[in-house]
Amino acid sequence: MKITVLNGSPKGETSVTMQYVRYIQKHFPQHELEIVNIAQRLKKIERDATTFQEIIDQVRASDGILWAFPLYVFLVHSNYKRFIELIWERGTEDAFAGKHAAALSTSIHFFDHTAHNYVHAICDDLEMTYTGAFSAEMQDLLHEEGQAKLTRFAEDFFHTIETRRLAPRRYAPLVPPELDYVPGPVEETVDVGGKHVVILTDATPDQTNLNRMIERGSATFAQDVEVINLRDLNIKGGCLGCLRCGYNYECAYTGKDEFINVYNARLKTADILIFAGALHDRYLSATWKQFFDRGFFNTHTPSLVGKQFGFIISGPLAQVPNLRQILQAYVEWQRSNLVGFVTDEFGDSAHIDHLLHSLAGQLAKFAASDYIQPHTFLSVGGMKVFRDDVWSKLRMVFQADHRAYKRMGVYDFPQRNIGVRLLNTFVAPLFRIPQVREAFNSKIKEGMIQPYQRVLQDG
Ligand SMILES: Cc1cc2nc3c(=O)[nH]c(=O)nc-3n(C[C@H](O)[C@H](O)[C@H](O)COP(=O)(O)O)c2cc1C
Repeated sequence: MKITVLNGSPKGETSVTMQYVRYIQKHFPQHELEIVNIAQRLKKIERDATTFQEIIDQVRASDGILWAFPLYVFLVHSNYKRFIELIWERGTEDAFAGKHAAALSTSIHFFDHTAHNYVHAICDDLEMTYTGAFSAEMQDLLHEEGQAKLTRFAEDFFHTIETRRLAPRRYAPLVPPELDYVPGPVEETVDVGGKHVVILTDATPDQTNLNRMIERGSATFAQDVEVINLRDLNIKGGCLGCLRCGYNYECAYTGKDEFINVYNARLKTADILIFAGALHDRYLSATWKQFFDRGFFNTHTPSLVGKQFGFIISGPLAQVPNLRQILQAYVEWQRSNLVGFVTDEFGDSAHIDHLLHSLAGQLAKFAASDYIQPHTFLSVGGMKVFRDDVWSKLRMVFQADHRAYKRMGVYDFPQRNIGVRLLNTFVAPLFRIPQVREAFNSKIKEGMIQPYQRVLQDG
């Protein structure tokens, strides 16, 4: 069988993910797996119509497609995302339709599920038969168990193609909103005092609703709002995955384009950040993805801390909860406050005017009190992955994170709590005695709320 492997690593062949593909090639010599470097060669693929067409022809001639990619900031690399956009922009979806597909990723399991949800949804949108996913921790292949699992995965993929097994679609097709948003006059502005508001966008002139929402949102504030369009900046390219940033946040692009200066001087200094964009397939645009990827020069260290975040989104966000989750996780991971989303999905223009005004009011209110709401599993769980990995296997490369995590108190390992350790060592064994267990259980509910009584009495 002929399988086309679409390689999503900007490092091309020198990629951890491609070692997994090499392993499959070695163990299934009867099948032809041809690797096409997508993320690494995106500029050429986008510029040169023949190169793009060759890839599409190869896809068309294949029995199956393997989407093989590293995790990049909750998703795939921006260049891979751009390639996916090109499939539709150039009307080549039919080359993918009806083909069997599988997804293979390597990562540290930080939001690998959102990347896989994305790729699965793309396969559904392309009317492919999505057969399954393999989300490896980057070092899994170094161990027998990981090798055995990869072999099972590959076997199943090949068998599914051979037997023409079908699989159900998981994601319903997207239905774009129809509203032509026409903002009304701003009757009352929102005073943010000395707080600095920045709207960051990738809007193009033809995105009427998005541009109007940005204008209306901006006019809602009494003070001047800085609007930065990513498309106006000199950004040389996507993240190279070179990890030079790991030691001291120095990026391979330092001094070569505007990204880092704008990020440091104009975003880090803002109090209120509004990100504004339109849905492109199941995410925002590849331009937005490039922004998030390039932000990785701060590696795993939160760099937009203590901000009030709002989102203005044109498109069917309610139909893509995966994207909403990614954006919420991003804000939480930044140790910032997610105030809200305004979209053009529901209601009429007056309703959207109202929502924009309300968003501005909430942003101003929370900025004034520096309110950061409690975070959810998205960042609480996610930070434990980062904490453990930066403490251990990632530390040598990501020394800047290690220093920052010490400073920011991220190393909150539970082993450090002496009281809990004493309880677990000396009191927990007493539970082997049924009478002790019984006595404890009969008081457990009162015991759980007892510490709160002091707070309630004091308050
Ligand atoms: C810029 C950048 C962003 C990353 N983002 C994530 C992420 O969001 N989640 C995760 O689990 N791993 C993330 N990783 C780790 C890579 O996915 C992992 O190292 C992968 O094995 C690299 O594969 P490759 O060598 O094929 O490019 C990121 C790495 C880089 C360099």
